[in-house]
Amino acid sequence: MEFKHEPVLLKEVLEWLNPSPGGIFADGTLGGGGHSERILQKIGDTGTLYGIDRDEDALRAAVSRLQGFPAFHAIHGNFHDIKALIPEASKLDGGLLDLGVSSYQLDTPERGFSYHEDAPLDMRMDRSAGLTAADWLNSVPEKEITNALYDYGDEKWAARIAKMIVERRNKQPLVSTMDLVACVDAAIPKAVRRKEDGHPARRTFQAVRIAVNDEIAPLEQALKDWMDCIRPGGRLCVITFHSIEDRIVKHAFRRMQNPCVCPPQAPICICGKKPVAKVMGGGAIHPAKEELAFNSRSHSATLRVAQKL
Ligand SMILES: C[S@@+](CC[C@H](N)C(=O)[O-])C[C@H]1O[C@@H](n2cnc3c(N)ncnc32)[C@H](O)[C@@H]1O
Repeated sequence: MEFKHEPVLLKEVLEWLNPSPGGIFADGTLGGGGHSERILQKIGDTGTLYGIDRDEDALRAAVSRLQGFPAFHAIHGNFHDIKALIPEASKLDGGLLDLGVSSYQLDTPERGFSYHEDAPLDMRMDRSAGLTAADWLNSVPEKEITNALYDYGDEKWAARIAKMIVERRNKQPLVSTMDLVACVDAAIPKAVRRKEDGHPARRTFQAVRIAVNDEIAPLEQALKDWMDCIRPGGRLCVITFHSIEDRIVKHAFRRMQNPCVCPPQAPICICGKKPVAKVMGGGAIHPAKEELAFNSRSHSATLRVAQKL
């Protein structure tokens, strides 16, 4: 299957990263290489771009698209491990994280991300490691499923859906995407399902994907590690697609800008924590009207940028 993914907020990312010839950059979520290709065009043969993805299919597609650029270095790995993945000495001029899954992953039925197709319930971005969604749902305590559905999916029927999943797995383990859709259907009353905006299993699939790929807990530390790898004046651009991630990025960048933990009544700072970065662009940056009109994925996208001090 062809790797189809329209890069989101491309113009804005290029403006903020401002790549110039010889620059050193890292793209922690390479995907189809849409953003990376444009960065590579700007940094030329004397630059360096580390392109990281935990999904080997994505990496293969990006390597085939970007093999003509001598500055490109493909890395299979998790961007949470940035400090181990790129050479210690290379201080980055900028970094990009375009979080979540690609259109290619969502549109490839056998990856198990889609509630529209009957397929094995996998949902791992890195198919060489970790539990599949089916393994996870068949083994973790009911409370853990409920919490994931609440926390990562904002699902108000979380407890009922988790109960249905446990009832189902007690009879027969879940194996396919349609097994999970059936649990959601059984948990949410028909009248509510009919009134739903979008597919009733959308929030559950998002939540299970986030849990299986451990997308949230390590994010704040990862942002700090990325900022450590950036040289003063360089920028970190992060694109998110839902409020849980955006909140983490917003607060992490604010803490980098104002890390002081002294009580407000303290006349001077005694905690000694110094700002490491400055929030750019006034906070949340959203796609322009023109992009919203042609790229439906961009509707939920938010870009945040911080500049290393
Ligand atoms: C939204 S897509 C990126 C699309 C890319 N910017 C483009 O223009 O084609 C996200 C990609 O990041 C990868 N990814 C998500 N979380 C990751 C992580 N923690 N480490 C490495 N790759 C990750 C996914 O496998 C997916 O290919």
